Amino acid sequence: MNEADSEEMLLHLFGFGYQKTSVLSEADLVLINTCTIRDHAEHRALSYLGRLEKWKKEKQGRKIIFAGCAAERLGKKVQKRFPQADIVCGAKSLDKFPEILEKSSLFNTEKTQDQPKEYNKKVTAQVSIMRGCSCKCSYCIVPYVRGEARSIPPEIILENCTVKAQNHPEIMLLGQTVNAYNYKGFTFSKLLEEVCKIPQVKRVRFLSPHPVFIKEDFYKVVADNKKIARHLHLPLQSGSTKILQDMKRLYSAEDYLQIVKNLKQLGFLISTDIIVGYPTETEEDFNQTLNLVKKCGFSFAYCFKFSPRLGTPAAELKEISQEIVEKRLNILLNEIRECSFNAYKNCVGKKEEILFETKTSGRTSGNLWYRTSAQRDIGTLEQVLIKESNGKILK
Ligand code: 5AD
Ligand code: SF4
Repeated sequence: MNEADSEEMLLHLFGFGYQKTSVLSEADLVLINTCTIRDHAEHRALSYLGRLEKWKKEKQGRKIIFAGCAAERLGKKVQKRFPQADIVCGAKSLDKFPEILEKSSLFNTEKTQDQPKEYNKKVTAQVSIMRGCSCKCSYCIVPYVRGEARSIPPEIILENCTVKAQNHPEIMLLGQTVNAYNYKGFTFSKLLEEVCKIPQVKRVRFLSPHPVFIKEDFYKVVADNKKIARHLHLPLQSGSTKILQDMKRLYSAEDYLQIVKNLKQLGFLISTDIIVGYPTETEEDFNQTLNLVKKCGFSFAYCFKFSPRLGTPAAELKEISQEIVEKRLNILLNEIRECSFNAYKNCVGKKEEILFETKTSGRTSGNLWYRTSAQRDIGTLEQVLIKESNGKILK
């Protein structure tokens, strides 16, 4: 989501005559787009801003924009602590980013150029379909910094997809709870169907769905549309129904497992997010997570230590010892490594559909990495036979 937001902000900056560089010494302006999902993410953003003080002093006229979720959470406090930040633009104000630039005296601004519709040359184009989140998971800061869920009108999304599909065969639809998308009755399933109808679109992915919004109509659209990639990143968070309740996740461990079974029948690989060390998590709860992980056979998982976020209900609870959390995390990471290894090994001998992202590598529909020695054009979609795998890449 942040990558997509960064791209949007960059396009506005292009409209003001800026170009992108990854060489700091060449830059006149640094845009820091920040995350606050865990304390560590916010800390990194702030320490980067701190280090830029020196860069800013080295040449007159250099500017810094501090944007995104940490900017939203910290607001004016950022500029107090780090006067080098010229503009602080919180995640809720991203819609107003062009006005903020125009109003700022720093940019003797009028738009100098037509704003391009995109710039990125990757095979995948990201398209935001909704903003914010109306779930209230007890540990999560997102609803506070991004606001309530707002679905973008389907005409805008489809126009955006049509433009991007000219240069990007894969479309990635984005939203905090992407499958909660609903614009005046126009549902996520309907949107998926319409995106699949765009001739230049070869593959459709989306991120991140919430288990509670997966309904029958979704399975039907998937079954009818081969363009929809057979991979879902479906955050689990915990395999204990008790902890899921405490987290206000609105599904049980059994519900989750049933969804996984349904998806597997449709040929899906599933990856996930898991939080370890939620304040009420007992050894038994953690073992239930391990058991569920084994049953689900994830292809991959991001595992996080619980991080208390001020203002969320879970931050009021007494944390469990870091030593225990560390131990649980390591056990889980080992399990996930094995799951991921198996997902790769299971493909050997099978036919897979590869979308080439470089001349010699790409991803399967299930989102596994593939490499070959023969060269293809970037963007080629091709059925290949998987001959071998070391558990990390298919060949
Ligand atoms: N602590 C740890 N992990 C968190 N996540 C969200 N909030 C927290 C938190 N307070 C994780 C969830 C989510 C992912 C994007 O980040 O697993 O799915
Ligand atoms: Fe946070 Fe995701 Fe829960 Fe929304 S659904 S509150 S973004 S964890």
